[in-house]
Amino acid sequence: MKALNVNIDRLTADLNELARFSGESVPPPAVTRVLYTEPDLQARAYFKQLCTDAGLVIREDAIGNTFARWIGSQPELPAVGTGSHTDAIPHSGMYDGTVGVLGGLEAIRALQAARFSPTRSIELLMFTSEEPTRFGIGCVGSRAMSGMLVPKKLADLHDADGLRLDDVRQAAGFVGSLADVRLLKDYYSAFVELHIEQGPILEREKLPIGIVTAIAAPASMTVELTGEGGHAGAVLMPGRKDALCAAAEIILAVEAAAKDTGSPDAVATTGVCRVHPGAINSVPSKVTLMIDIRDVNLAPRDQSVQAVRAAIDEVSKRRGVSAVVEMLNSDPPAAMAPVVVNAAEGACGKLGLPFKKMVSRAYHDSLFMAQVCPTGMIFIPCRGGVSHRPDEYSSPEEIRRGVEVLALTLAELSCHS
Ligand code: HGY
Ligand code: MN
Ligand code: MN
Repeated sequence: MKALNVNIDRLTADLNELARFSGESVPPPAVTRVLYTEPDLQARAYFKQLCTDAGLVIREDAIGNTFARWIGSQPELPAVGTGSHTDAIPHSGMYDGTVGVLGGLEAIRALQAARFSPTRSIELLMFTSEEPTRFGIGCVGSRAMSGMLVPKKLADLHDADGLRLDDVRQAAGFVGSLADVRLLKDYYSAFVELHIEQGPILEREKLPIGIVTAIAAPASMTVELTGEGGHAGAVLMPGRKDALCAAAEIILAVEAAAKDTGSPDAVATTGVCRVHPGAINSVPSKVTLMIDIRDVNLAPRDQSVQAVRAAIDEVSKRRGVSAVVEMLNSDPPAAMAPVVVNAAEGACGKLGLPFKKMVSRAYHDSLFMAQVCPTGMIFIPCRGGVSHRPDEYSSPEEIRRGVEVLALTLAELSCHS
């Protein structure tokens, strides 16, 4: 193989072009790209065009997971996968996920230019709906590919307007059987995802590369609180059943639940609070909360979940407000595979790049690809550890180094039969 040359100017231009496909009227660099909306479909079309230009063979599954394959010399062997997501939560940044998708493409183009010839095919993936924005649950595409989300449940996922995933995906042009989304056994021999760290450690320790050893265990739930509404002036305080006051106590209990575990990795967030009817002079009768609870270890994560559920019971009974809790997901943590960790470590060695082995506190599609095959992740620093915000940023040099490590990792994983 000739010297590897990552074309970072081309990749930067690709990332900037992709960032243009954004919903909401928010000024760049903010990005909003929600599943099956126009910006999502534009991003998909752009990605497929770039992959076609690179000579990759493209297929899409029944929910839009997109696969772009560089055929190896032994195409019958299980392929090596890489990739990430291009969907983005409202008002977020342009690097979360996209660095793994377009960086994965650039890694392939750099290997092609270096005259590397893979034995195993290398397949680039753009996963459908890594973010939970539209259907309330994250990693829809990789969950379904791994079999962790069965076709019936997948079809019946519904958005805030009550639209079913099965109907929305077909309206967006994705047809075919949901049963075919699940990958066949041994479809991949390994999977590796490049992603921004979404945390401050690499930047703080002035390290260019993180090699992920485990991905934290996410759980999430919705809580529907129903009290009694009424006129803000006429309904006196005694006997009020104010759903928002109950929600307020529960939101603080969510925060306390994580802190009380004593685990430094326990986090809990109430990211959504919808108030009905939402008028200044009307006592809130209904509130919907969406709660995200995580830890690297299962025990403190589940301890937080139990504490939150106990608080919901106690507050709703005391305040005479009804509470309906729906667990959206409660996933185990994932350990990354030594074969991928070692390949990434070897790549850093060849490039003379220092690295840190670390845990991912964010979840990723790799959390579910780890159910499918040996899986690993490569992190690059992001400024101030900021993510899921318009000021999310990784420099071209940081991205270039990440793509170099990814390319050599893919070369190592794909050169053996
Ligand atoms: O929420 C997460 O951890 C991921 O960024 N979707
Ligand atoms: Mn994200
Ligand atoms: Mn992400």
